[in-house]
Parts: sequence; C-alpha cells; structure tokens
Amino acid sequence: MTSVRICIVGTGYVGLVTGACFADVGHDVVCVDNDSAKVALLREGGMPLYEPGMEEIVQRTVKAGRLRFTASIAEGVAHAQVVFIAVPTPPQSDGSVDLSYIEKVAREIAACLTSPKIIVDKSTVPVKTGEKVAETIQRYCPHRTDFDVVSNPEFLREGCAVADLMKPDRIVIGVTSQRPVPTMRDVYAPFEAPIIVTDINSAELIKHAANSFLALKISYINAVAAVCEASGANVQEVANGIGMDRRIGRAFLNPGIGFGGSCFPKDLRAFIKIAEQLGVDFRLLKEVQAVNAAQMDRFLRKITDTLWVLKEKRIGVLGLAFKNNTDDVRMSPAIALCERLLAEGATVRAHDPRAMDKARSLLPGVEFIEDMNEVAEGCDALVIATEWDDFKHLDLDRARASMTHPIMFDGRNLFDPVEMERLGWVYRSVGR
Ligand code: UDX
Repeated sequence: MTSVRICIVGTGYVGLVTGACFADVGHDVVCVDNDSAKVALLREGGMPLYEPGMEEIVQRTVKAGRLRFTASIAEGVAHAQVVFIAVPTPPQSDGSVDLSYIEKVAREIAACLTSPKIIVDKSTVPVKTGEKVAETIQRYCPHRTDFDVVSNPEFLREGCAVADLMKPDRIVIGVTSQRPVPTMRDVYAPFEAPIIVTDINSAELIKHAANSFLALKISYINAVAAVCEASGANVQEVANGIGMDRRIGRAFLNPGIGFGGSCFPKDLRAFIKIAEQLGVDFRLLKEVQAVNAAQMDRFLRKITDTLWVLKEKRIGVLGLAFKNNTDDVRMSPAIALCERLLAEGATVRAHDPRAMDKARSLLPGVEFIEDMNEVAEGCDALVIATEWDDFKHLDLDRARASMTHPIMFDGRNLFDPVEMERLGWVYRSVGR
C-alpha cells in the first residue's frame, strides 16, 4: 500500500470519520478545524460526536502517530499531497446551499499553496461548485502554484459511517484531467471498492441524485403504506415482495414517520433548487417532500383517532434521534412529533439511548427519562419514534401494567401486531 499524506479541513461528522479511517488504513493524516476548542478536545482524546467504533479508531491512530489535529490550515496544507475540504454546506431559506464556508476554505488553501497539491471537495455541493472552487484557488493563489481540483462525494450514513467508509459500494472521483487520478487511487486502494472516474459535474450530481433517490424510495413505501392501511394489506409483505426484485432492492423500503436528518431534507431542497436554477422543474422530488410531510400528519391522525383529544393526555415517546445508532437530532421527525404533541396540550415524557442531551434544549417542555422501561408510567399512550433496536427489548408487561391504557403507536414497525394484541395492547403501526 502507498501511504498518502492527507489534510482534512473540517472535523465535523464527515471530516472526522474520513480522517480517522484514512489514518487507520495507513495514510498520514492531519485534521484541521478553525474551532480551537474542538481541536483541544480531540487532542485530549475527547469526541465531539457519537459514532459507533469511531473513538477506538481515533485513539489507536493518534497513538500510532498517523492522525493529528491542528487549528492551522497552513500546517495541514504544508503536510499534505491531498487536501480534502469537508466543511458544512448549510441550507439557506430558499433551499439553496450556503457555499461560503467552501469558498473561504478555498481562499485559505490558495493563500498557503506553495507546491502542487490535489484539492478535493468532499462536502455535499450542488453541481458546478467544483468549477467555482478551481476559479477561486486560481484567483487567490499568490504563487501561481499548480493544483488539481477533484470532486469526491461521501455516502456515509450516520450510525454506520465507519462501516460505510471502510466497505464502500463505490468511490466516485470527479476530475478535469487524469493527473490526480493515480494519487486518488492510492488514497482509496486499501478500501478495495470499485472506483468511478468521471467529470466533476457528474460526480457532484451523483451525490444529490443518490440521496434524492433514496428519499424517493422512502416516500414511495410510505405512500404504499397508506394504501395498505386503507385496503387491509401489510406493507412489510409488500416491501419484501417488491424488494426481492434485484432491480428494486429491499433497502430503504421501511415505512415510518418520515425521513429526517441533516442530509435527505437538505439535499432534496438543494437538488430541486439547483435544477430550477438550471431551468428544470423537478416536480417528482417536490412530491417526495410532500409525501414525507404528510406522513407525520397521518401518524398524528392515528393518535388523535384513538385518543380523540390530546390535551391533558400523558404520552410516552421512545426515540428522539432522527434514526437509530446516532445522537443526532437535526431535522429529526421524532423531535417534530414531540413538538406537535406538546402543541396539542399533551404532557410528553421521552427517552432516547443517545440523543437526550442534544434534544433537551430543543424540547424544554418534555420530561426526559433515563430508563426506557419507566417512560410508560402513568401514560395514556406510548409512541415509538426512532428505530432503535434497544426498544425491541422493552419490558412490555411492565410498560402495559404501568399505563392508564396500554395503547402503543409504533411509528417504526418494531413489534409484531398479532403478538402485541395477544399481549393485551391496543397496537397501531404503519401500513399493517
Ligand atoms: C444519508 C444517506 O444514506 C448517506 O448515503 C448520505 O451520505 C447522507 O445521508 P443519513 O442521513 O445518515 O444518511 O441516514 P439514513 O440511514 O439514510 O436515514 C435517513 C432517514 O431516513 C432517517 O430519518 C431514517 O429513519 C429514514 N429511513 C431510512 C426510513 O424512514 N426508512 C428507510 O427505509 C430508511
């Protein structure tokens, strides 16, 4: 294996996981962040975020001397053959992407570019951003140094980012010439994945098109779930039946209370917006958004159809993260659900295995319960809002005995409807 000297600018979710995994396979990595408190925390062995497996990788690669942290971009750039940009690209109010962090980092890299480097955009950006990054570096580079710009989108899912990075389905490398390709192949050789070398615009589009398609699959199965409910069919059987067709695939066909997180909602809006700016009305994706919003309304209607008035009702909510195995609550449908219940006048008690700290400030009206088995106490209904495996081990008998009424609204289809009725629950799930 050829070890490559790498700098990663931005130690957010993507930057940190990528940097740590690159170091773990033998590359020599410096991670840069302008937040010096975060750099200090990482240097002391602390973790700014929870991701299964990450802490161990950071600890062992730091110890091996292959991963370092600094607040100085000049130090990182001087060290590297390849500089990855992994800074936030937050949404703006009109749905377009705020590219100011990317632009700023491009200028900063340009200012300290004294020898030829490969500059790689890893952040999720709209098509045509790479062209702008190249222009910016050219303009702000005082030494007229030669460089290559590459687009290399990430496809990491929170909660299994390490596995996604170590065993990727494919690596996408967008370039304007073949010059940076051998070094980029060296970077990714240890991961033994198929590598697609393409132009920069296509690479950027692959990312938006992939995430939008996955969101479309979820909205599709959520719409099918509504038909299942109206007809008495079982959406799980339907998903299994269509998922066995290899052209369709079973993944991302789990109905629920809608998708959330920091990627799908934002990337959909950004893709619709950039398409619009390019003269394309992407109505299909607008419908994906509409179905997703309606999914939460339909779930709430299920609750009010059973409980009628929510005012003065005590409701237990299991799950606050936007999905399992993460402490991330950004755009979490579980948080939105709690807000809607509170707005209806209900009292909400909630638990999440990892996300309670981050949820606290968003949900000041909610009582947070440390033990998941205590959430149901005195409740009129129990709601499952996040697909944590932990909840499958809930003490159902204890929960049922402690409730005023044993009613469960399972927004993630974690339990078997027949078994739940047998155990004495009034049980409502999605599409079954
Ligand atoms: C996503 C993409 O999967 C990843 O490739 C990309 O790089 C970043 O965005 P992430 O946001 O971490 O990853 O989570 P993901 O596992 O895709 O789930 C997103 C949302 O969809 C969650 O709210 C989840 O609960 C929901 N979901 C997922 C469903 O409702 N049903 C499914 O079948 C799958």
